[in-house]
Amino acid sequence: MIETIVNADVQTAGCDDKTQQMLQQIKTVTVIGSGTMGNGICHVFAQNGFKVHMMDINQPALDKAIATIGKNMDRQVGKGTLSEDEKAASLGRISTYTDMTEAVKNSDLIVEAATENIDLKIKIFQELDKLAPPACILASNTSSISITRIASFTKRPTQVIGMHFMNPVPVMKLVEVINGYATEAKVTEVIVNLSKYIGKVPCVVNDYPGFISNRILLPMINEAILALQEGVAGVEEIDTIMKLGMAHPMGPLQLADFIGLDTCYSIMNVLHMGFGNQKYAPATLLANMVQAGYLGVKSGEGFYKYTPGSKDLVVSQRFKKNRDF
Ligand code: CAA
Repeated sequence: MIETIVNADVQTAGCDDKTQQMLQQIKTVTVIGSGTMGNGICHVFAQNGFKVHMMDINQPALDKAIATIGKNMDRQVGKGTLSEDEKAASLGRISTYTDMTEAVKNSDLIVEAATENIDLKIKIFQELDKLAPPACILASNTSSISITRIASFTKRPTQVIGMHFMNPVPVMKLVEVINGYATEAKVTEVIVNLSKYIGKVPCVVNDYPGFISNRILLPMINEAILALQEGVAGVEEIDTIMKLGMAHPMGPLQLADFIGLDTCYSIMNVLHMGFGNQKYAPATLLANMVQAGYLGVKSGEGFYKYTPGSKDLVVSQRFKKNRDF
């Protein structure tokens, strides 16, 4: 019943016959990776009526992801934007897998949301290409790795595309849609319409390092870290200036902790290498923090210290006034 509704609605999206046909065929979405981005992507597809296969390498990670989706749906139930029945039905549409062959079986779209590591992504796409049905679209949620490069390791580069969601996925409206060099126009059209269907606003960009989102966001974050490193201002001052002066919901240092300092570092490296321009060199302080395992929210400490269950924003002792770093 749900699938009929979904596909009838998608059909009214005002696109030509071939695109409509491709859209109608998307019923099952496999998401590779059940971390923050992966579980958020599963959440929105399941909530919008799609059958979702969530895959990760171990069952405890999948169980944790299901619990997270349940908790995030509870926020929506609490606000009255989702009923208890809809929550149950959405969760009922998600199946979990640790075996890739099973996970991609009958998949119409696969969204890869694994760790931001080029070698890992290439390996995953080679496997997906072998195992997924021929018509299946292969999307990556990469935040900066070249879609063209990933696609070149498959035999279906015309069906490989970037579908870059933002964290927290159920809240953030944007999907940055990235065309690889060989991505077929029809595939882009399908992903654009599908993104709209799941309540997002797609923006199509071309495949250059960092695309648009992170080409602009990450140098800002890196600059904030450089300013901190140089002692221009402290953590609180830098974040307050950007929050109150520029109406950003989070300051750049808090946002860096939220994204993960390892991810920020790897995106800066992609920009640095991709453009060959020194202006994108990651701040030494960022590199040091990543080396030392201070990765932000996920490790419990970055520019701020995080205590489970507390929403208080406490500056890390390391960055309290009169400390050298
Ligand atoms: N699932 C569902 N709902 C969620 C949620 C989640 N994971 N997280 C937060 N929410 C909801 C809350 O229920 C709340 O809803 P209402 O306003 O309707 O009550 C709303 O979002 C705000 O949440 P909170 O009150 O808990 O907290 P907040 O007001 O501080 O907002 C925030 C939190 C939405 C994360 C906000 O601080 C924000 O927008 N921050 C910036 C986020 C951002 O820039 N994201 C992009 C990062 S870059 C990226 O993702 C891509 C990359 O490649 C690096």
